[in-house]
Amino acid sequence: MSRKIIIDTDLGQDDAVAVLLALASPELDVLALTAVAGNVPLARSQLNARIIVELARKTTPVYAGCDTPLKRKLVTAEYVHGETGIDGITLPDPTHPLEDTHAVDFLIDTLRHEPPGTVTLCPLGPLTNIATAFSRAPDIIPKVAEIVLMGGAYFEVGNVTPAAEFNIYVDPEAAEIVFKSGVPLVVMPLDVTHKALTSRAWVEGMRALGTPVGQAVASWTDFFERFDTAKYGSEGAPLHDPCVIAYLLQPALFTGRHINVEIETGSELTLGMTVADWWRVTGREPNAMFMGGVDRDGFYRLLTERLGRL
Ligand code: BDR
Ligand code: CA
Repeated sequence: MSRKIIIDTDLGQDDAVAVLLALASPELDVLALTAVAGNVPLARSQLNARIIVELARKTTPVYAGCDTPLKRKLVTAEYVHGETGIDGITLPDPTHPLEDTHAVDFLIDTLRHEPPGTVTLCPLGPLTNIATAFSRAPDIIPKVAEIVLMGGAYFEVGNVTPAAEFNIYVDPEAAEIVFKSGVPLVVMPLDVTHKALTSRAWVEGMRALGTPVGQAVASWTDFFERFDTAKYGSEGAPLHDPCVIAYLLQPALFTGRHINVEIETGSELTLGMTVADWWRVTGREPNAMFMGGVDRDGFYRLLTERLGRL
């Protein structure tokens, strides 16, 4: 039986690869994509979600959610992902429709109606939609099987400020609600994703697939790689969000620790920092499986094999 998941996304290039990986994998039943504001404003992230569903030749429903963080002004990242969020090759405007229901209502209704413990949430952007659903309908919290998310950083510190990773920084109050919710959490921080760097051979392998998906993935990687290589001096770019889906398919690719992670919401200097008790020095209750390592070759083998199916 396949595992039911909902992917919550601020759809940029790496989100797109994550969505394609999920849609290519029969082990996963993607109930919906719920769009949130983050890399790009909501109007664009929901449009991108529909473009990607269509690129994969699927009919997965897309819902639009929150357009601003709970308490703060939206910060976006077009400087990384381009004006569209998926700059690279130009893809056609989608005919795949946007659902009428708000993503938060969809999340609440679905978690109320599906058997408890059967739906996994996969947030790939700021946690605004998930936190809003939890605040509005706390009865759904114990029904979530697990949350596997991309966000945070500890040893790798921040990418948007010296202390914070983008997804958590954009809506730290939402992240705090999710990290305190009691739902089993698996976290893919920058500590992992900065080890999941693309290689030139992998990008060219994608292009050589000769498919629309292969062409798109190669062009997206070419686009945002320039930003990452200039910033970090690394060879290749991190494919952050696909780590979430790869974990669902092959958890043994990742290593980490079950520890306490708290979100900084007060300090201006370290706003959105994921304070991870990696060395277990606080005595605070563990609330997250915080990953630190990835089998990079295995990860890219999985991506190549699955994306080749689309
Ligand atoms: C995260 O921020 C976004 O730019 C990426 O899509 C990823 O989810 C990395 O910090
Ligand atoms: Ca993302």
